Amino acid sequence: MRRYLVAGNWKMNGSRQANAALVEKTVAGLARCSDVEVLVCPPAVYLESVGQAVRGTPVRLGAQNLSDRDAPGAFTGEVHGAMLREMQCEYVIVGHSERRALYGETDEVVARKFRAAQSLGLTPILCVGETLAQREANETEAVLERQLEAVVQLCEVAALARAVVAYEPVWAIGTGRTATPQQAQEAHAFLRAQVASRDARIAAALRVLYGGSVNSGNAAALFAGPDVDGGLIGGASLKADEFLSICAAAQAQVTR
Ligand code: PGA
Repeated sequence: MRRYLVAGNWKMNGSRQANAALVEKTVAGLARCSDVEVLVCPPAVYLESVGQAVRGTPVRLGAQNLSDRDAPGAFTGEVHGAMLREMQCEYVIVGHSERRALYGETDEVVARKFRAAQSLGLTPILCVGETLAQREANETEAVLERQLEAVVQLCEVAALARAVVAYEPVWAIGTGRTATPQQAQEAHAFLRAQVASRDARIAAALRVLYGGSVNSGNAAALFAGPDVDGGLIGGASLKADEFLSICAAAQAQVTR
């Protein structure tokens, strides 16, 4: 059975009250998606309250970012992975394109964050993806290879057995312009083949999520791709009904 994962990336949105209402509705509506792993990633300051709301439910908790430092200490404004574990986080997003583009995270920083996450038992969701200019210049595969390779170099391919990869074309994030199911499938197959060239078993089990303007209308077609194992959902995860429909689209693939 395919192990789909649908993750909501709430980004820097909501308030304590709004996020409490969102998680409550999300948890309440999930009963029909029992074969899909569902994850919510609220802003760091709401991890504790959202974590309390998902405790004892099938919904998992993830963070959007973590420090690349090995040990806690004098790093003003940073959040260490051990702190995320204490909040009951199981997953953490690393290398989201917004972090790369707006906060200067290089491939090396992302790889260190990936390693830091795993060293604390958090499952990293490694985001990779090309910009529009890179796609138009036919550089998509080179970019994906470079971003993945930085992690493999630092952590070895075996580390991918305890990780999730998210293909998020930058031009599709928050733009309403989704990759076609074929574009997504091609990129996912490429990423899996990159891993398979080192370890076929790890590649076969690796979950590769698609992210970029996924909504209830396009999720089914995207998730039908043989190498698409779920989604990383931004804007649409802020509306519980919409997010639940996307989870249901993944569930429909499992029970098809
Ligand atoms: P989006 O964001 O669904 O709003 O395009 C996806 C993401 O950034 O993870």
